[in-house]
Order: sequence, then structure tokens, then C-alpha cells
Amino acid sequence: MKVLLLGSGGRESALAWKISQSPLLEQLYIAPGNGGTDTYGINVAIAPTDFPAIADFVKDNGIDLIVAGNEDPLVAGLYDYFEGSGVRVCGPSKAGAALEGSKDFAKRFMEANGIPTARYRSFTADTLEEGYSFLESLKPPYVLKADGLAAGKGVLIIDSLEEAKKSLAEMLDGMFGKSSATVVIEEFLSGIECSVFVLTDGNGGYRILPVAKDYKRIGEGDTGLNTGGMGAVSPVPFADEEFMEKVRSRIILPTLRGLTEAGITYRGFIFLGLINVEGEPMVIEYNVRMGDPETEAVMLRIDSDLLALMDAAASGSLGDLELRQSPQTAVTVMMVSQGYPGSYPKGLPITGLEKVSGSIPFHAGTKRQADGLLVTSGGRVISVSSLGSSIADALAKSYEAISLIEFEGKYSRRDIGRDLMALEH
Ligand code: AMP
Ligand code: GLY
Repeated sequence: MKVLLLGSGGRESALAWKISQSPLLEQLYIAPGNGGTDTYGINVAIAPTDFPAIADFVKDNGIDLIVAGNEDPLVAGLYDYFEGSGVRVCGPSKAGAALEGSKDFAKRFMEANGIPTARYRSFTADTLEEGYSFLESLKPPYVLKADGLAAGKGVLIIDSLEEAKKSLAEMLDGMFGKSSATVVIEEFLSGIECSVFVLTDGNGGYRILPVAKDYKRIGEGDTGLNTGGMGAVSPVPFADEEFMEKVRSRIILPTLRGLTEAGITYRGFIFLGLINVEGEPMVIEYNVRMGDPETEAVMLRIDSDLLALMDAAASGSLGDLELRQSPQTAVTVMMVSQGYPGSYPKGLPITGLEKVSGSIPFHAGTKRQADGLLVTSGGRVISVSSLGSSIADALAKSYEAISLIEFEGKYSRRDIGRDLMALEH
């Protein structure tokens, strides 16, 4: 099988690593890839949303399957663009991708299908005054979400009512451009979050991937600014059989049923961002792709051929293909540039990768220069993943590897997984 993987981050490195191990694989291409993905396939300089260029590439190279790593091409209609063209796409149709592309749509979908989520209302510039009244009816903190994609920055959690009103007005006035022309205001939920990934074939078939937890803030103890993700752990001790049975019956099955009933084609990953509210799973958000950096941990715990599963999902039938999970613990710890998530330097040489053994340094923001030098090219640079018998055991390996990899100003959180260790048996 010839596969085109779209994206360039740590998630795509981990997907490429896993796909490259499949006996079904004839050739993997990654568009555009990064300084490390060429270990697993061939990087091609095409943007994931440049559908005409992708179509030419697919035709010229006989691609059988396109896998979208990130949401942008899916929300822009990748699936629909290629439907009926012969190439299979692992991902939802544009209508399905609205589960991530529009928070208002996602909330309406959950409400219509009885899926547990925070109480909410949506507002536009015309209903600003009603938005103020709704805020007054809620208890702090206030959760304001831009309806559309906002590069992970569209959610504000605000303690003061006055600040929340001010932010609502600013959002509706274009703080996130068109993405915040509609704003979802919802009740604040308190609990520990986790990420559940489901691969569905759109015909009732689905598999649940290993559950993970990510660490979003830049600072230890979950302090400071939000980032794209500083690390992840899988499995998540509290996501036990009882919790997952609730997730399955109250969230996964109603989601799949709701999609079918709405006539929405969905053949790919559904990412449930969940929060555990006193043992009850509630949906914080849907995403229509795998998580980053969760994927960099989750891939290490999949013992089956993921390419076979993704291709079967894209073909509309998972059949009886198995998705086996390793009982081991996987962690990933992100090495980031100095200054991230604010401004940071790029082009700094990265050394020491060849000294790493026992961990996988998945490249994220790296680039191979024309002279062969590997340099930093993003805020999140390398996600160091390890398997172990426990969180502590896996972490020790990642931190050892991190001590060997050098670039000026490197920073990692030292407390990844610490909150979960107490829950481990
Ligand atoms: P989202 O982009 O919807 O995932 O929101 C980003 C982050 O904001 C989530 O991962 C949560 O940590 C937090 N968040 C979003 N909605 C809520 C909520 N209703 N209650 C508490 N925290 C929330
Ligand atoms: N780690 C959260 C996300 O990928 O959206």
C-alpha cells in the first residue's frame, strides 16, 4: 500500500513510525514532514490543505490511502474532495469534521444525542446582551469558547464576571477573527481530563485506542500559559473498566449513532476530550484527529498493525481486525524552545540524538538544512517517548534521553505524570 500522511509535527512522526512498521506498507510519503520523518518515508513539500497539489501527487504516485494527521485539511473538506476518486481517506467528511471545526455544532450535536457535556449557550454580536445575562446566571470561573478553529487558543477561562463580559464583547468583535463571530459560553467543570481515541469505519464498527492524558500548561504543576502540549501518559489509571464502560455507552455509542442518524460520513479518528467529574465522564470537546502529544505515547502501546486498521476504517469496514494494546506504560515528554509558547528562536543546532537508546525521540519542530545540519524550527522540538513498567520507569528513560539531546535553551517539564503516579496500582 502507498500511503500519504499529512502533517509535520510530533504526532505525524509517531504515526509515520507506526505506519512504517506495517507489512502492508509499500511506500510512505509525508507532506510536508519534518527533520525526522524522512527516517520512516519520503518527505514531500506539499501543504496539507493544498488539495489540488495533493491530488496531483496522489495520481502521479499511485497513492492508495491518505491519512490526515491534523484537523485543518479535514475541516476544509479533504474527505469530500477525494470521495469517489479512488484514493481512500482516513478521516471524517467535512460535515463530520465540524465536530471540531464548530464548537457550537458540537454542543448542539451532544445535546441532540444526550451526550454528557457542560451546560451551554451560544451567542453572536446580535445577542451580546443575552450573553451578559447568561454569564450573570453562571458561577465563576467562566468558560468562553470561540466557535471556530483558533489554533488551540480559542478557549478563555476567566475568574471575574466583569472580565468575562469584556472578553465576550472582544471575542464577538473579532478577537479570533471569524472564528469567534459565535461564542459558546459554558459551565465550568471540575475534574481530571483524559483523551479517548476511537477509530470508526462509519458503519457501526469502531475500536478504542489506548487512553492518554496530556499536560497542556508550560509550567510545572499545570501553571502558566497553555501550549500545544508538554507531555502525555498512557494508560490513565482512573480510566478503568467501569469508567470506560460509561464512556462507551454514554458517549461513544451515542456519538456514532448520532453521526449515522444525521447522515454524516465518518471514517477515521474521533478524539474525545473528556473530564472525569466525580467518576462521571463528560465531553469537553471533540477533535477529529489524533491528539498531539498523546499520539507520541499511544502509538507505543498499540501492538496491532495500525495501517491495516486505518485502511479498513477508511474502506468502511473494520471487520474483525483486532486492536491489541500493550499492558505497559508509555510516556512522552516534550522538549521545547526557550520562550515557547511565546516567541522563541529557530534554527538552533540539535545534537546528541544518536546517543539515545531505549527511548524514541519523535521529531516535532525540527528541520534538516540543505547542509545536512538538524536545527530547531518550532516551539515544540522533540517529543521523547518511552515504554516502561510504570509511569516512573518510563519517565526515567525519557528524562535520561532528554539529558543527552542538546539545543540552546531546551526546556521540558519535569513533572509529567506526577499527578497520576499516586493513582497507579
Ligand atoms: P478545548 O479547546 O475545548 O479543549 O478547551 C481547552 C481546555 O480548556 C480544555 O482542555 C480544558 O482544560 C479547558 N476547558 C474547556 N472547557 C471547559 C469546561 N467546561 N470546564 C473546565 N475546563 C474547560
Ligand atoms: N493534546 C490535545 C490536542 O491534540 O488537541
